[in-house]
Amino acid sequence: MEKQHLGFDLMIYESVDELSMDDRELMSRAREARDGAYAPYSGFHVGAAVLLASGDVVAGNNQENASFPSGLCAERVAVFYAGAAHPGIRILSIAISASGRVRELSIPAAPCGNCRQAILEYEQKQGYPIRILMQGAQGKIYECPSVASLLPLGFDGSFLT
Ligand code: THU
Repeated sequence: MEKQHLGFDLMIYESVDELSMDDRELMSRAREARDGAYAPYSGFHVGAAVLLASGDVVAGNNQENASFPSGLCAERVAVFYAGAAHPGIRILSIAISASGRVRELSIPAAPCGNCRQAILEYEQKQGYPIRILMQGAQGKIYECPSVASLLPLGFDGSFLT
């Protein structure tokens, strides 16, 4: 029998003031995107900003649908958009800003399982980790070093070859 510990160090910043200029800018792009979310059913607004190795930033927000499962989370909108508009360019970081329309979220909301799986594909494809920053309407920011850290024992293309 062997025991393995699968864990990571979560970095916690008290506010955006503790972030680097680049991360602060990326989070502000995520917040801006959040303002444009189409979320009439849940009232939960999410924005995601993807920083590429080229320096370009691609942003997206959640897009809901009267047929609920047809909607898509902000993270996947942003990452798929990055993949479509900037194919082959490495993703360095993703900032996520989330808040309810009525009740402001004061803690970071982590990406859902489907988004973790979708982003893992890009991390695995590029062979370099994607940093993830997340924040509520304001307050603390969580930083994760990679998507794999958020999805231990993840399923990827290597199982299919
Ligand atoms: N949502 C996201 O955009 N990202 C997440 O990681 C969690 C959930 C969206 C989906 C839906 O439009 C709303 O938030 C409520 O679940």
